Amino acid sequence: MSPINHSLQQTRLQETLTNAFERLARIKNQTELEALRAEFIGRQGVLARLMDELKTLSLEEKRVQGPALNELKKTLTEAFTAKEVELLQQLLEQKAARASSFDVTAYRPGSLQGSLHPASHIIEEVENILISMGYEIIDGPEIEREEINFEALNIPKNHPARDLQDTFWLTIPHLLPRTHTSSVQIRGMQQRQPPLALATTGRCYRQEATDASHDFVFMQCEILLVDKKISLANLFATAKLFLQGLFKQEKLELRIRPSYFPFVEPGLEMDMSCPFCSTGCSVCKKSRWIEIGGAGLIHPHVLKASGINPEEYSGFAFGFGLTRLIMLKYGIDDIRHLHSSKVDFLKQF
Ligand code: DAH
Repeated sequence: MSPINHSLQQTRLQETLTNAFERLARIKNQTELEALRAEFIGRQGVLARLMDELKTLSLEEKRVQGPALNELKKTLTEAFTAKEVELLQQLLEQKAARASSFDVTAYRPGSLQGSLHPASHIIEEVENILISMGYEIIDGPEIEREEINFEALNIPKNHPARDLQDTFWLTIPHLLPRTHTSSVQIRGMQQRQPPLALATTGRCYRQEATDASHDFVFMQCEILLVDKKISLANLFATAKLFLQGLFKQEKLELRIRPSYFPFVEPGLEMDMSCPFCSTGCSVCKKSRWIEIGGAGLIHPHVLKASGINPEEYSGFAFGFGLTRLIMLKYGIDDIRHLHSSKVDFLKQF
């Protein structure tokens, strides 16, 4: 072996090593590392080429260069492995640093802004109008006693009128999810002395098959006035003023039809002129009238059951479906949207 050739080989190995270490020091991630590894110790890398060249050398040269090349390969392989461990370590440290400085209380859900549910809007509006008319807003329990939901409202046990409302019964005797807010009339009258002007809004429950316009839970509003010499004229005037205020229409008209509700006598159903059209539309089904709810003069049995003397006092009661009113007012075509919690639906209000 000539000394020139020998030292030339040595220099190339030394250069390869220096070059590899310099570039390894600048590596920042796993991808770069893999590329560099392939370039140097991959199957077609620098080292593989040097190995190929080895075959062309004399036996003597091979004896020197062979072990030197193996040594170089070992050094480089170890250096690459060390770098890989170092990168992994860095990654873990970064993750840990991020986790420790993550402030959950600083979470801000993008541009999603909360808004009132349409039911809350209507309740607020209804109550404001009634308060402005001198009514006291009262509340009653959703789980009600049978005697208040039925008996005190002149609906005795085994009376066919009980079948008008499909009741959910609890396993606890004589308790039920109230079927109407008329129960709150009784509580209001029992706890106070006339004259009374009371109103309530709230959820009611009935065994209904659910579809676009029926649900087993829905909201009602109940309005009650008890004083001396209260007549149907007071009822009409009140209902009209209230609906005109709610639909912001001075020209809104009322129509009545005779009906039967055990707790009022006479009992009637009320329709309002369609607030959305004058010639017939899809909301009023081209009839120009929309059913609103039931009403009447409080039955003497009901006044008596609440400790009020029917000889001295009379009153009216008016109840309507608040959920239906919400759907009418906002043009909601499926009752199930109202408790779906769908953001796309809710953010419209
Ligand atoms: N409680 C009745 C129902 O849920 C509605 C009703 C009818 C309420 C007549 C009243 C009334 O106050 O006078 O079907």
